[in-house]
Amino acid sequence: MSWTVKPSRTQEITKRTEPYLSEEAKAKYEKDLIPRYPERRGALLPILHDLQHHERCIPHQAMVEISQFLNITPGEVLDTVSFYEEFHVEPVGRHVVAVCQSVACEACGHAAVLDHLKDKLGIDEHETTADGKVTLLALECLGACEKAPCMLRNDELIGPLTPEQAARLVDELK
Ligand code: FES
Repeated sequence: MSWTVKPSRTQEITKRTEPYLSEEAKAKYEKDLIPRYPERRGALLPILHDLQHHERCIPHQAMVEISQFLNITPGEVLDTVSFYEEFHVEPVGRHVVAVCQSVACEACGHAAVLDHLKDKLGIDEHETTADGKVTLLALECLGACEKAPCMLRNDELIGPLTPEQAARLVDELK
């Protein structure tokens, strides 16, 4: 994980007129998700997954709307979003390629894989290509140490990888 310090106190929160949680979406969550949990807050993760999938990020406005819908504080939503690496406050590309950088993958050559992908894509980790196609991430243990060095290509876990194999897998992305 890399830590980025931002001036949160003076940060502008952009808002759009159209809500992220439409009345239709809320009715669907109310019917399909809320009854599954003893408390409304239990639906937080599935709602975040849904938004991340459709919006490619969880903007601050969406966090406020979710907090109102679930009767929790915006801070609790932000805590959850910032804890899990699969949620992003800025939009990610159409494809997300995430190289594991934890100890087993580090020992098996993750740096060569990551560097090769950075060169190939012309971006640094945690950046997106100019055409919005690929976001490159370096994440902590993906839970597949026996496949080191490994990476996630969207939802697909792949390894062990050479730098060249990783580059070919990125080439296959439409
Ligand atoms: S260290 Fe890479 S998957 Fe565990």
